[in-house]
Amino acid sequence: MSNLKFKVQPGGQLNGTIRVPGDKSISHRSIMLGSLAEGTTEVSGFLQGEDSLATLNAFRQMGVQIEGPSDEGRVTVHGVGMDGLQPSDQALDLGNSGTSMRLLSGLLSGQAFDVTLEGDESLSGRPMRRVTDPLAEMGAIIETEADGTAPLKIRGGAPLKGFHYEMPMASAQVKSCLLLAGLYAEGETCVTEPAPTRDHTERMLNGFGVAVTRSGDKICLQGGGKLQAAEVDVPADISSTAFFLVGASIASGSDLTLEHVGINPTRIGVINILRAMGANIEVLNERVSGGEPVADLRVQSAALHGIEIPVDQVPLAIDEFPALFVAAACAEGETTLRGAEELRVKESDRIQVMADGLTTLGIDAKPTADGIVIQGGTMGGGTVYSHHDHRISMSFAMAALCATAPIEIEGCDNVNTSFPGFSDLAARVGLNIEAYSS
Ligand code: S3P
Repeated sequence: MSNLKFKVQPGGQLNGTIRVPGDKSISHRSIMLGSLAEGTTEVSGFLQGEDSLATLNAFRQMGVQIEGPSDEGRVTVHGVGMDGLQPSDQALDLGNSGTSMRLLSGLLSGQAFDVTLEGDESLSGRPMRRVTDPLAEMGAIIETEADGTAPLKIRGGAPLKGFHYEMPMASAQVKSCLLLAGLYAEGETCVTEPAPTRDHTERMLNGFGVAVTRSGDKICLQGGGKLQAAEVDVPADISSTAFFLVGASIASGSDLTLEHVGINPTRIGVINILRAMGANIEVLNERVSGGEPVADLRVQSAALHGIEIPVDQVPLAIDEFPALFVAAACAEGETTLRGAEELRVKESDRIQVMADGLTTLGIDAKPTADGIVIQGGTMGGGTVYSHHDHRISMSFAMAALCATAPIEIEGCDNVNTSFPGFSDLAARVGLNIEAYSS
C-alpha cells in the first residue's frame, strides 16, 4: 500500500454548496438485493468507494452481470433470482469492508455452494462470532479462525431454519446478516434489537417486495419469498457529510450547504449531538426518495460547548464519533461519551486512536473502556496516525480548521473506502489540504 498523507494548514473556513458521495450502507444493499432479485435493478448515486465496489465485485465473481458504475454512479444489476448465484473458484476478497463480510455471511449461508470470505489485515482482525454464532443456530456451517475472525469458510447446502434472535449489541450488520439468511430459512426469522439501528435493509427489502414487519424492537420476515427488481436512488452519505458538518461548525465564518443527504431517523445522531453542542444546522427541502428520507443541510459556524452525549444517540451516530471528538476538542468545556464500546472494534480502535491523535495535538482526551472524556482546548499541530482508518484521517483533516499549526495525517489511503475525492472536494470549499504519497 502506498502511504498517502494529508497535510492541512491551520485555519480557513468552509463555504459553498456540495454533494458528497453516495451512502455506503445503501450502496452495498442495492447490489446484494439487486443480484437476488428477478429483473433488472437500476441504481443511481452508487458510492464508487472501495468498500461498496468490493461487494459489487463479489457478486460479479458469483456470476451476476453488473454494468457500471458510470461516472455519475449509475449501476445496472441483472438479477439472477434467489437461487441463481454461481460458485466462485476463488475466495471473495472483501478488502476493508465489515459490512460486506457480515451481510454476505448471512446471504451466502443459504446457498447451495461453498464459499470463502476474506479481507485485509484490519477486517481479518474484527470479530465475526457475532454473526457466525447466531447463523450456526439457524443451521449454517461456517469455519472461522480459532479466535472467531476471517477468513470465513461457508459450507453450501446446509438447510436453514428461521429463529428468534435477541441481539446482545445494537448492530445493523448483525440484524441485516440474519434477515438476509432468513430469506433462505424455513419459517419466520425475527431479530430483537436492544436499541434502534439503521434500518436500510428492512426498507429496501420492502421496496423489493419482501414484507419485513416491525413490532416495537422486533423485526421479522418470512423465508422462501422472492425479490422483485426495483429502482434505488442512493442519497449522499450522512456519514461523509459529518466531516463537513463538524468542519463548518468549528471554522468561524463558514456557511456550507450539503445537498441530497440521507436523513433516515436511524442515522441522524450526528445532527442531534452537534445541535445539542450549539451547532447551527438547518434541515431544508425534506423529501422522500426511493423509500429513504432526504434533505439539504445548511451549516453555519457556531460557538460549540461540551455535553454529556446521550447514550440513546450512540447507535444513531456510531460512525460519526471520530468527527464528533474533533468538535468536542474545539468546543468550550467537557464532552463525555459512554456506552460506545463498539467503537473499539471498528476499522481501528477509534477510542484509542482518536485519543492518541488529539493528545498529540495538545488536547486533553482521556479514553475510558466504553467512551472518552475530552476537554475543549487549543488545538496545536503535529503528525497523527490514522491506523489506516478512513474516518480517523478525514476527522483530523477537519481538525486543522481550529488548529494553530499544520496537521499531518499518516495512512490516508483508506479514505477511498468510503469517500473517494475527499481531499479535492474539501479543498474546493476551503480546506487548505494537500494529499501526497511517499
Ligand atoms: C453498517 C452498520 C454499522 C456501521 C457500518 C455500516 C451497515 O455497523 O458502523 O459502518 O451498513 O449496516 P454495526 O451495525 O456493526 O454497528
